[in-house]
Amino acid sequence: MVDIVPLDCTLGARITGIALGDMSDGEWREVEDAFHEYGALVFPAQHLTDEEHIAFGERFGGIEILRDGAKAVRVSNRKDDGTLMKPEEKRYQTLRGNEGWHTDSSYMPLAAKASALAAEITPSKGGETELADMRDAYDTLDEDTKERIAGLSAYHSLYASQAKAGFEFKTGEGYGYHTRGAPLRPLVKTHPVTGRKSLFIGRHAFRIPGMADGDAQALLDELLDHACRAPRVYSHSWEPGDLMIWDNRCILHRAMPYDYSEPRVLRHVRVAGDPASELAETGRDERADGFEPVAANR
Ligand code: OGA
Ligand code: MN
Repeated sequence: MVDIVPLDCTLGARITGIALGDMSDGEWREVEDAFHEYGALVFPAQHLTDEEHIAFGERFGGIEILRDGAKAVRVSNRKDDGTLMKPEEKRYQTLRGNEGWHTDSSYMPLAAKASALAAEITPSKGGETELADMRDAYDTLDEDTKERIAGLSAYHSLYASQAKAGFEFKTGEGYGYHTRGAPLRPLVKTHPVTGRKSLFIGRHAFRIPGMADGDAQALLDELLDHACRAPRVYSHSWEPGDLMIWDNRCILHRAMPYDYSEPRVLRHVRVAGDPASELAETGRDERADGFEPVAANR
Protein backbone atom coordinates (compact mmCIF):
# COMPACT_ATOMS: atom_id res chain seq x y z
CA MET A 1 0.00 0.00 0.00
CA VAL A 2 1.26 3.47 -0.89
CA ASP A 3 2.29 5.27 2.29
CA ILE A 4 2.56 9.07 2.06
CA VAL A 5 4.07 10.86 5.07
CA PRO A 6 4.49 14.67 4.98
CA LEU A 7 8.02 15.92 5.70
CA ASP A 8 8.65 18.06 8.75
CA CYS A 9 8.40 21.36 6.85
CA THR A 10 5.89 23.19 4.64
CA LEU A 11 6.74 21.15 1.53
CA GLY A 12 7.30 17.58 0.57
CA ALA A 13 6.28 14.05 1.44
CA ARG A 14 8.13 10.78 1.76
CA ILE A 15 6.51 7.92 -0.12
CA THR A 16 7.09 4.23 0.50
CA GLY A 17 5.18 1.07 -0.39
CA ILE A 18 5.51 1.68 -4.12
CA ALA A 19 7.90 0.48 -6.84
CA LEU A 20 8.22 3.39 -9.27
CA GLY A 21 9.57 1.07 -11.95
CA ASP A 22 6.32 -0.90 -11.89
CA MET A 23 3.56 1.52 -10.95
CA SER A 24 -0.15 0.93 -11.55
CA ASP A 25 -2.34 3.73 -12.92
CA GLY A 26 -4.06 3.98 -9.54
CA GLU A 27 -0.72 4.42 -7.79
CA TRP A 28 0.28 7.02 -10.38
CA ARG A 29 -2.85 9.05 -9.56
CA GLU A 30 -1.89 9.04 -5.88
CA VAL A 31 1.64 10.12 -6.76
CA GLU A 32 0.43 12.92 -9.05
CA ASP A 33 -2.03 14.23 -6.45
CA ALA A 34 0.71 14.18 -3.79
CA PHE A 35 3.07 16.02 -6.18
CA HIS A 36 0.55 18.85 -6.52
CA GLU A 37 -0.23 18.94 -2.82
CA TYR A 38 3.32 18.74 -1.44
CA GLY A 39 5.44 20.18 -4.28
CA ALA A 40 8.17 17.54 -3.80
CA LEU A 41 8.28 13.80 -3.21
CA VAL A 42 11.03 11.60 -1.79
CA PHE A 43 11.08 7.92 -2.70
CA PRO A 44 13.78 6.06 -0.75
CA ALA A 45 15.53 2.96 -2.08
CA GLN A 46 14.01 2.77 -5.58
CA HIS A 47 17.23 1.82 -7.45
CA LEU A 48 15.71 2.62 -10.84
CA THR A 49 17.40 1.91 -14.15
CA ASP A 50 17.81 4.81 -16.59
CA GLU A 51 14.81 3.55 -18.55
CA GLU A 52 12.60 3.32 -15.47
CA HIS A 53 13.68 6.78 -14.33
CA ILE A 54 12.87 8.24 -17.77
CA ALA A 55 9.51 6.43 -17.86
CA PHE A 56 8.67 7.87 -14.43
CA GLY A 57 9.55 11.37 -15.70
CA GLU A 58 7.41 10.84 -18.78
CA ARG A 59 4.36 10.29 -16.57
CA PHE A 60 4.68 14.02 -15.79
CA GLY A 61 5.30 15.22 -19.36
CA GLY A 62 7.86 15.48 -22.14
CA ILE A 63 11.53 15.30 -21.17
CA GLU A 64 13.98 18.14 -21.74
CA ILE A 65 17.16 17.10 -23.48
CA LEU A 66 20.02 18.66 -21.51
CA ARG A 67 23.05 17.12 -23.23
CA ASP A 68 24.16 14.56 -25.77
CA GLY A 69 20.59 13.86 -26.95
CA ALA A 70 19.92 11.91 -23.74
CA LYS A 71 16.76 12.00 -21.64
CA ALA A 72 18.71 11.05 -18.49
CA VAL A 73 22.00 12.80 -17.71
CA ARG A 74 24.53 12.41 -14.93
CA VAL A 75 24.93 15.38 -12.62
CA SER A 76 28.38 14.55 -11.40
CA ASN A 77 31.88 15.78 -10.77
CA ARG A 78 33.11 12.52 -12.31
CA LYS A 79 33.54 12.46 -16.07
CA ASP A 80 32.76 9.55 -18.39
CA ASP A 81 36.47 8.64 -18.46
CA GLY A 82 36.40 8.20 -14.67
CA THR A 83 38.48 11.28 -13.79
CA LEU A 84 37.17 14.09 -11.60
CA MET A 85 36.44 17.53 -13.03
CA LYS A 86 38.82 20.41 -12.40
CA PRO A 87 37.78 23.87 -11.23
CA GLU A 88 38.55 25.49 -14.57
CA GLU A 89 36.11 23.21 -16.42
CA LYS A 90 32.77 24.69 -17.37
CA ARG A 91 30.77 21.72 -16.11
CA TYR A 92 32.54 21.91 -12.74
CA GLN A 93 31.51 25.57 -12.62
CA THR A 94 27.94 24.61 -13.44
CA LEU A 95 27.97 22.17 -10.51
CA ARG A 96 29.28 24.86 -8.18
CA GLY A 97 26.67 27.24 -9.59
CA ASN A 98 24.01 24.69 -8.58
CA GLU A 99 24.94 25.49 -4.97
CA GLY A 100 22.93 28.70 -5.28
CA TRP A 101 19.14 28.50 -4.87
CA HIS A 102 17.52 28.18 -8.28
CA THR A 103 14.77 26.70 -10.36
CA ASP A 104 15.64 24.64 -13.42
CA SER A 105 15.58 26.10 -16.93
CA SER A 106 14.09 29.43 -15.86
CA TYR A 107 16.82 30.96 -18.07
CA MET A 108 15.40 29.12 -21.10
CA PRO A 109 12.34 30.35 -22.99
CA LEU A 110 10.46 27.28 -21.70
CA ALA A 111 11.08 26.74 -17.96
CA ALA A 112 10.98 23.24 -16.49
CA LYS A 113 7.94 21.62 -14.88
CA ALA A 114 9.72 19.13 -12.66
CA SER A 115 13.14 17.62 -11.98
CA ALA A 116 13.66 14.04 -10.84
CA LEU A 117 17.06 13.22 -9.34
CA ALA A 118 18.24 9.76 -8.38
CA ALA A 119 21.40 9.01 -6.42
CA GLU A 120 23.99 6.54 -7.70
CA ILE A 121 27.17 7.44 -5.79
CA THR A 122 27.16 9.74 -2.78
CA PRO A 123 30.12 11.45 -1.08
CA SER A 124 31.04 10.51 2.50
CA LYS A 125 29.61 13.77 3.76
CA GLY A 126 27.76 16.82 2.41
CA GLY A 127 26.30 16.84 -1.08
CA GLU A 128 22.70 17.06 0.13
CA THR A 129 20.04 18.53 -2.14
CA GLU A 130 17.95 21.21 -0.46
CA LEU A 131 14.44 22.35 -1.43
CA ALA A 132 12.59 25.52 -0.43
CA ASP A 133 8.84 26.14 -0.63
CA MET A 134 8.02 29.28 -2.63
CA ARG A 135 4.27 28.91 -1.95
CA ASP A 136 4.75 29.41 1.76
CA ALA A 137 7.42 32.03 1.02
CA TYR A 138 4.82 34.08 -0.85
CA ASP A 139 2.03 33.48 1.65
CA THR A 140 4.19 34.73 4.54
CA LEU A 141 5.31 38.00 2.91
CA ASP A 142 3.92 41.11 4.54
CA GLU A 143 1.17 42.90 2.63
CA ASP A 144 3.42 45.85 1.71
CA THR A 145 5.92 43.54 0.05
CA LYS A 146 3.16 41.66 -1.75
CA GLU A 147 1.96 44.98 -3.14
CA ARG A 148 5.46 46.10 -4.01
CA ILE A 149 6.21 43.03 -6.10
CA ALA A 150 2.81 42.53 -7.73
CA GLY A 151 3.29 43.25 -11.41
CA LEU A 152 7.12 43.06 -11.30
CA SER A 153 9.06 40.68 -13.53
CA ALA A 154 12.70 39.67 -13.68
CA TYR A 155 14.95 38.53 -16.49
CA HIS A 156 16.50 35.10 -15.95
CA SER A 157 19.91 34.21 -17.35
CA LEU A 158 22.56 31.59 -16.80
CA TYR A 159 25.18 34.12 -17.88
CA ALA A 160 24.13 36.40 -15.06
CA SER A 161 23.83 33.66 -12.43
CA GLN A 162 27.23 32.16 -13.27
CA ALA A 163 28.73 35.64 -13.13
CA LYS A 164 27.16 36.26 -9.69
CA ALA A 165 28.62 32.92 -8.54
CA GLY A 166 32.06 34.25 -9.49
CA PHE A 167 32.58 32.43 -12.79
CA GLU A 168 33.66 33.94 -16.04
CA PHE A 169 30.89 35.63 -17.93
CA LYS A 170 31.22 34.66 -21.56
CA THR A 171 29.18 33.41 -24.44
CA GLY A 172 28.92 29.65 -24.44
CA GLU A 173 27.51 27.23 -26.92
CA GLY A 174 26.07 24.70 -24.51
CA TYR A 175 22.61 24.21 -23.08
CA GLY A 176 21.31 27.18 -21.21
CA TYR A 177 23.45 29.89 -22.73
CA HIS A 178 20.91 31.80 -24.73
CA THR A 179 22.01 33.67 -27.78
CA ARG A 180 18.88 35.79 -28.06
CA GLY A 181 17.02 37.65 -25.35
CA ALA A 182 16.73 36.40 -21.80
CA PRO A 183 13.26 35.29 -20.68
CA LEU A 184 11.24 37.73 -18.59
CA ARG A 185 9.18 36.09 -15.83
CA PRO A 186 6.78 37.49 -13.22
CA LEU A 187 8.08 37.44 -9.61
CA VAL A 188 4.74 36.06 -8.47
CA LYS A 189 3.67 32.92 -10.23
CA THR A 190 0.25 31.30 -10.13
CA HIS A 191 0.49 27.53 -10.26
CA PRO A 192 -1.27 26.23 -13.39
CA VAL A 193 -2.85 23.28 -11.55
CA THR A 194 -3.39 24.32 -7.94
CA GLY A 195 -3.92 28.05 -8.51
CA ARG A 196 -1.61 28.80 -5.54
CA LYS A 197 0.67 31.79 -5.77
CA SER A 198 4.40 31.45 -5.22
CA LEU A 199 7.55 33.53 -5.46
CA PHE A 200 9.41 32.83 -8.69
CA ILE A 201 12.97 33.92 -7.92
CA GLY A 202 16.39 32.27 -7.49
CA ARG A 203 19.89 32.89 -8.73
CA HIS A 204 19.06 33.09 -12.44
CA ALA A 205 16.83 36.16 -11.87
CA PHE A 206 18.95 39.27 -12.30
CA ARG A 207 17.24 42.33 -13.68
CA ILE A 208 13.86 43.97 -13.14
CA PRO A 209 12.58 46.33 -15.84
CA GLY A 210 12.10 49.80 -14.39
CA MET A 211 14.66 49.34 -11.59
CA ALA A 212 18.40 49.96 -11.36
CA ASP A 213 20.27 46.62 -11.40
CA GLY A 214 21.61 47.16 -7.86
CA ASP A 215 18.14 47.86 -6.45
CA ALA A 216 16.70 44.88 -8.32
CA GLN A 217 19.38 42.53 -7.00
CA ALA A 218 18.86 43.88 -3.46
CA LEU A 219 15.13 43.17 -3.72
CA LEU A 220 15.74 39.70 -5.17
CA ASP A 221 18.26 38.95 -2.38
CA GLU A 222 15.83 40.17 0.29
CA LEU A 223 13.05 37.97 -1.08
CA LEU A 224 15.39 34.97 -1.33
CA ASP A 225 16.57 35.49 2.23
CA HIS A 226 12.99 35.46 3.51
CA ALA A 227 12.04 32.52 1.29
CA CYS A 228 14.82 30.03 1.94
CA ARG A 229 14.61 29.44 5.67
CA ALA A 230 12.75 27.26 8.15
CA PRO A 231 10.06 25.98 8.09
CA ARG A 232 10.20 26.12 4.31
CA VAL A 233 13.44 24.18 3.70
CA TYR A 234 14.03 20.44 3.39
CA SER A 235 17.53 19.00 3.19
CA HIS A 236 17.81 15.58 1.58
CA SER A 237 20.80 13.45 2.53
CA TRP A 238 21.15 11.01 -0.33
CA GLU A 239 21.46 7.26 -0.12
CA PRO A 240 22.21 5.44 -3.37
CA GLY A 241 18.89 4.36 -4.88
CA ASP A 242 16.84 7.31 -3.61
CA LEU A 243 14.74 9.31 -6.03
CA MET A 244 13.44 12.81 -5.37
CA ILE A 245 11.21 14.88 -7.65
CA TRP A 246 10.13 18.48 -7.18
CA ASP A 247 7.87 20.97 -8.92
CA ASN A 248 10.09 23.70 -10.39
CA ARG A 249 7.08 25.98 -10.70
CA CYS A 250 6.89 26.47 -6.92
CA ILE A 251 10.02 24.96 -5.32
CA LEU A 252 13.61 26.24 -5.36
CA HIS A 253 16.54 23.85 -4.94
CA ARG A 254 20.29 23.84 -4.46
CA ALA A 255 23.15 21.38 -4.10
CA MET A 256 25.18 21.49 -0.89
CA PRO A 257 28.98 21.46 -1.13
CA TYR A 258 31.05 18.35 -0.53
CA ASP A 259 34.64 17.32 -0.91
CA TYR A 260 35.10 17.54 -4.68
CA SER A 261 37.95 15.04 -4.56
CA GLU A 262 35.26 12.39 -3.93
CA PRO A 263 32.81 11.35 -6.66
CA ARG A 264 29.14 12.24 -6.42
CA VAL A 265 26.91 10.84 -9.14
CA LEU A 266 23.24 11.73 -9.46
CA ARG A 267 21.02 11.05 -12.44
CA HIS A 268 18.74 13.84 -13.65
CA VAL A 269 15.57 13.59 -15.73
CA ARG A 270 14.03 17.01 -16.33
CA VAL A 271 10.37 17.35 -17.31
CA ALA A 272 9.65 20.22 -19.69
CA GLY A 273 7.12 22.87 -18.80
CA ASP A 274 3.78 23.22 -20.54
CA PRO A 275 4.13 26.11 -23.01
CA ALA A 276 0.70 27.35 -21.90
CA SER A 277 2.16 28.27 -18.49
CA GLU A 278 6.00 28.05 -18.66
CA LEU A 279 6.86 29.79 -21.91
CA ALA A 280 8.24 33.29 -21.32
CA GLU A 281 8.69 36.16 -23.65
CA THR A 282 12.26 36.84 -24.57
CA GLY A 283 13.16 40.44 -25.13
CA ARG A 284 16.19 42.12 -26.55
CA ASP A 285 19.54 40.58 -25.69
CA GLU A 286 19.73 40.95 -21.93
CA ARG A 287 22.80 38.78 -21.70
CA ALA A 288 25.60 41.20 -20.96
CA ASP A 289 23.87 44.43 -21.73
CA GLY A 290 25.27 46.68 -19.00
CA PHE A 291 24.94 43.96 -16.36
CA GLU A 292 27.48 44.06 -13.54
CA PRO A 293 27.23 41.21 -11.06
CA VAL A 294 26.66 42.95 -7.74
CA ALA A 295 26.38 40.20 -5.16
CA ALA A 296 27.05 36.54 -4.80
CA ASN A 297 23.72 34.92 -3.96
CA ARG A 298 25.05 31.52 -2.95
C1 OGA B 1 20.38 20.07 -10.98
C2 OGA B 1 20.67 20.44 -9.58
C3 OGA B 1 21.21 19.63 -7.40
C4 OGA B 1 22.16 18.65 -6.80
O1 OGA B 1 20.80 18.97 -11.39
O2 OGA B 1 19.72 20.86 -11.67
O3 OGA B 1 20.45 21.56 -9.22
O4 OGA B 1 22.06 18.42 -5.58
N1 OGA B 1 21.14 19.48 -8.78
O5 OGA B 1 23.03 18.15 -7.52
MN1 MN C 1 19.08 22.53 -10.69
